[in-house]
Amino acid sequence: QRRPRVLSGIQPTADSFHLGNYLGALRSWVDMQDTHDAYYCVVDLHAITISHEPKVLRRRSRVAAAQLLALGLDPQRCTLFVQSQVPEHPMLSWILECHTGFGEAGRMTQFKDKSSKNERVTVGLFTYPVLQAADILLYRADAVPVGEDQRQHLELVRDLAQRFNTTYGKMFVVPEAHIVKETGTIQDLAEPSRKMSKSASGPAGIIDLLEEPNRIRKKIKSAVTDTGREITYDPENKPGISNLLTIYSTLAKVSIADLERDYDGKGYGDLKKDLAEVVADFCAPIAERTRSYLDDVAELDKILLAGAEKAQAVAGATLARVYDKIGF
Ligand code: ADP
Ligand code: NA
Repeated sequence: QRRPRVLSGIQPTADSFHLGNYLGALRSWVDMQDTHDAYYCVVDLHAITISHEPKVLRRRSRVAAAQLLALGLDPQRCTLFVQSQVPEHPMLSWILECHTGFGEAGRMTQFKDKSSKNERVTVGLFTYPVLQAADILLYRADAVPVGEDQRQHLELVRDLAQRFNTTYGKMFVVPEAHIVKETGTIQDLAEPSRKMSKSASGPAGIIDLLEEPNRIRKKIKSAVTDTGREITYDPENKPGISNLLTIYSTLAKVSIADLERDYDGKGYGDLKKDLAEVVADFCAPIAERTRSYLDDVAELDKILLAGAEKAQAVAGATLARVYDKIGF
């Protein structure tokens, strides 16, 4: 009996992933290796929807892959690859673009958000969610582990899959977003009313997995917290403390109820001091392992090439069936 399949991707648009990426999405990537037939990609085609530098992109794609391995992706248990090495992605994307309404694509709030912040707004930024649909549908994925901010894109993917199936006969699997409720949105440390994001958060609000332990400790200790003194989980009225509790609970594998009990009668400072150690201890070995994967770029490239070959076998078979249905 075949395992359900999972696919997800992440952009190589920064020098490090951040804690929001890990808690919202990458943690599930690691877990789902053992329950699913897992495909994960570094989506470099998506990364050029905003302006980029070729040398930087090439470096970041490798750093991204090294970090994913450091987080626990295992090439024996999942297929890890770089999107641009599998040309079927943009090929299917074109076909899906021709089945996507202009108005439908125009409703994507992430495009509205990103286009309002960038001076140079490309057609590629507009069609980004359609390429994402191609990524997922090529592998006939059942589940897509992502953060809450991807929910709308996943709805579009489902709509496109259903539309194609209705028009041409059963072809695609209609995928489910896999969003973990508790960690689907990690908030900015300096501005807890908004999400931690590499494009929007200032340096004080974001924790990079590859960051220096002392900087991590400092950021946690200066995280903006709420008025009042009790350490209770109440995202509505205490977004800052609640966010810290979520991070703590997930990384230390302790329930929030237990944390509330442990810190009963203690202050915000006590919580932050302990959490600073938890986060620093979590990140240090990841940074260490990432560096060691980057020390052997030839081996890293070999892993990615093998991943791309495995991915292409699946993607090519799907695309051949799609071409047939389309009339090519
Ligand atoms: P960013 O939003 O910082 O640009 P990406 O868009 O590359 O990061 O997101 C990669 C993955 O991480 C996606 O699945 C996304 O939903 C998830 N993610 C990003 N930011 C957060 C966050 N603050 N909390 C939870 N998940 C997040
Ligand atoms: Na995002």
